[in-house]
This record gives sequence, structure tokens and C-alpha cells, in this order.
Amino acid sequence: MKNKIDLLTNFATPIWLMRLKNVSSLNKELLNFFYEQKKINPKGIERSSLFGWHSQDYVGGEIYKIKPYKNFFERIAPLVQRVSDDMGWDRKNYTPSITSTWGIINPPYASNWSHIHHNNIVSAAYYVQWPTNGGGFVAQDPRNDALYYRPSYKEVKPLNVQQVTIEPQTGLIAMFPSYLRHRVEPNMSKKDRVIISFNINLIPLKN
Ligand SMILES: [Fe+2]
Repeated sequence: MKNKIDLLTNFATPIWLMRLKNVSSLNKELLNFFYEQKKINPKGIERSSLFGWHSQDYVGGEIYKIKPYKNFFERIAPLVQRVSDDMGWDRKNYTPSITSTWGIINPPYASNWSHIHHNNIVSAAYYVQWPTNGGGFVAQDPRNDALYYRPSYKEVKPLNVQQVTIEPQTGLIAMFPSYLRHRVEPNMSKKDRVIISFNINLIPLKN
């Protein structure tokens, strides 16, 4: 008689992916906005982008002054709902709120070095323009203690993988816990790759 074996896969690190359809006019508006911002502030600010341009952070009321964001937020509302459901957030007492957003324009060979998004619960990257060979989004195992011992494996499986590479596409949005360390490979295409990114936190609702 065989004994039953259960496998518990707690402490999972989720990455949600949603592909938005019919994005050409939305993306055009987003591109216009951020290329305009780049003209105004060509240096941008220094963050994860290596040889690329990083916009200022937009926070609070500034976020909602970015015209195409209204449409964008409506389009991604089902994703935020899904994340909220999967994570079991207490929506009676807390509301997920976008705390900051920014855009990145990475020309050929630019990349993003490894980083996390401090002091937030989930973060996202939306690929506004992602050329072929634009580079992969590489998420690294956030469980430091699990990296202590690495025997050789005969095959890569979800339970032994050390990093996961996602191939972005224009119109894809990736959402992940803010503690998830990630980097983006160099843009090996001949075109700019453009993303917008934002952070979400849970804000207490007042009674
Ligand atoms: Fe990031």
C-alpha cells in the first residue's frame, strides 16, 4: 500500500503578468508624455537605469495629472483586484494606493541594475515599447537563506530555480512583491525600450 505524500508550497513568490489588448493609442500617449519630460529634463534622475533616462518620481496628486494614466489605471484595475484577492488584503480597512510612478527610456545597450522597491507592498512594470531583443526582466530568488546551499541539479524546476527571466513585450504588465530583487538585461535592439513603473502600498481607510 502506498502512503500518500503531500507537497506544501508555501512562501511562494508571485509574479502576475497581464497582457493589455489594443494598446496603441494608450502607448502613444504615454510615449509622448515621457519623451516630452525627457526634453524638459534631459538628465533625469539617477536610479536603476545604466546609460538610460529615468524620469522624476511622480507622487500624490502629480500622478493623476499625467493624462494617459487615467486610462491606464482603468485598464489595469482588474489586475490590482486579482493581486488583492490572491494576497487576501483586508480591503475593508485598507485600500491599495499608487504611491509613486516614473518612466524609463533605455536606448540600445542601456540596462537596469539589480534593485528592490523599498517601503511598498507590490510594484509593477508596464512595457510601453519593447523591441525584439530589448532584454529580459530577471527576477532573483528573494530567499537569502535558500541560496546558502546549491547542489547541482539535473533539471531546472520551480522548486530549485535561482532566477526567472521574463521576456517583456509591448503591452505586458508585470506585478510583483516590492521585495523581489530584479534587474533588466541590456537592450540589444536598435530601438529605445520604454517602461512605466509604479509602487502600490496599502493605505488605512479612515472610519
Ligand atoms: Fe524595478
